[in-house]
Amino acid sequence: MEMSYGPTIEGLMNHRSIRKFTDQLVTEEHRSAILAAGQQASSSSNMQAFSVIRITDRQLREELMAITGNQSYVLESPEFWVWCADLYRYTMAAGQGSGSERLEEANAEWYTIGAVDTALAAQNAAAAAESLGLGIVYIGGIRNDIRRVGELLKLPQLVAPLFGMCIGYPDQDPVVRPRLSPEAVMHENEYSSSAYASLIAEYDDRHRSYMRERSGGKLETSWSEQMAAKHSQSGRQIGGYLKQQGFRLDD
Ligand SMILES: Cc1cc2nc3c(=O)[nH]c(=O)nc-3n(C[C@H](O)[C@H](O)[C@H](O)COP(=O)(O)O)c2cc1C
Repeated sequence: MEMSYGPTIEGLMNHRSIRKFTDQLVTEEHRSAILAAGQQASSSSNMQAFSVIRITDRQLREELMAITGNQSYVLESPEFWVWCADLYRYTMAAGQGSGSERLEEANAEWYTIGAVDTALAAQNAAAAAESLGLGIVYIGGIRNDIRRVGELLKLPQLVAPLFGMCIGYPDQDPVVRPRLSPEAVMHENEYSSSAYASLIAEYDDRHRSYMRERSGGKLETSWSEQMAAKHSQSGRQIGGYLKQQGFRLDD
């Protein structure tokens, strides 16, 4: 994208995850602005089905870091926030009107509402943080042991941790990671995969160049190679925990 369309798009196009932070703290004012921007995201029926848990306790940070496979920035970032899908607050509010909290209705749709609301709020917050000169990285690694995270954070029924977010001032300046070409993700009227082979090959080339630049010539991994490595790992299993939290995903 060559043209400039103003600071919002420019900011979004300059996103890159930051995994090394300076010691500079994020002011309370900035924290409030970031949270408020997150809260202002669209929300399914205004249910605002998310909660954020700010982790300030060092020992808790250490335990969470261990769960993420020792990603050091979970401990070292000035701010670490855990974003949770939260249908609990909604049922409390709803229960006051009807006298019934109807927890048994928490099905896959409820979980989807929570996951979508949480992601929208988090990404609004991320963009807001970046606009203030901060950097962020999402941490899905907390789902390595989602049950333990739920225990540590004392999450009630109908609340599930989805991802963490490190926030702070960047102490690195990584190059922006290229994305698939727009044609690979935009379809017209119906889904079409006919151009995927060539679009993936084209992206693999750009990704190799990006990796070469990022690693100072040491790495040349293509996107396909990275996806193959990802695909060969056994994925996390969180269905049992979500069920324990009251979400019935088979309905
Ligand atoms: C939900 C989610 C979870 C993620 N989890 C991790 C993580 O645990 N550790 C990490 O270093 N990066 C994590 N990332 C960052 C992605 O690896 C990164 O966004 C992606 O490679 C694209 O790179 P970019 O953000 O620099 O453009 C996560 C991103 C998302 C959206």
